[in-house]
Amino acid sequence: MKHLNIALDGPAGAGKSFLCREIAKHYGLIHVDTGALYRTIGLYVLRLGIDPKDTEKVISSLGSLKLGLEFSEEGQYVTLDGENVNGLIRTTQISEYASDVSKIPEVRAFLLDTQRNIAKEKSVIMDGRDIGTVILPDANVKIFLTARDEVRAQRRYDELIAKGIKTTYEQELNSIVSRDNNDRNRATAPAVPAEDAIILDNSDLDREGTLAAAIKIIDEKIGE
Ligand code: DC
Repeated sequence: MKHLNIALDGPAGAGKSFLCREIAKHYGLIHVDTGALYRTIGLYVLRLGIDPKDTEKVISSLGSLKLGLEFSEEGQYVTLDGENVNGLIRTTQISEYASDVSKIPEVRAFLLDTQRNIAKEKSVIMDGRDIGTVILPDANVKIFLTARDEVRAQRRYDELIAKGIKTTYEQELNSIVSRDNNDRNRATAPAVPAEDAIILDNSDLDREGTLAAAIKIIDEKIGE
């Protein structure tokens, strides 16, 4: 198969992770979850006791940040100082920290090469917020996956409860709406669709329906 890069952007709770995992399997691609990189920086500043809104402190902490992006049979994992922190970065608090640090242009610049290099070396489906607009502007296919706020909040709530993380639907709805506003309205790399992205709204689709719709879009684009 020729080198293939798929950019899959969209807001929190749209179902990007599941969809990307399935698309990666279907086309034999590596799934790169870029949100995990911002989450790892969120965890890093939390551990240092830094307020994620304190731009100066976050920027100066980047000098000693040892962040790794690794791939195993089970998929991607992220490391902090060599420690696998995949299991620690999915809490609501880390979601908010990640959203705050991701506004800082220096943080985005810090992660740029990691993301571009892996896409250059391998065929990937990369999920995030600015993949189609900034990271991989020449991606073969760009999809912007979205769904209504209430639908996304319910999915996020179900996901966290299933993992044994305590939360409420209202808390997740508030968190998702404020995080989206944060991500969408930031000055650097706002989370908006690329001009040439195909919008896929899956509010009324289940996982299988979403996957089928995405495969149709990809096949039409890459001419299979
Ligand atoms: O996809 P996620 O929920 O794991 O992402 C966590 C936060 O990181 C999200 O609020 C926005 C930010 N993010 C970003 O700014 N750019 C990306 N490419 C991926 C995530």
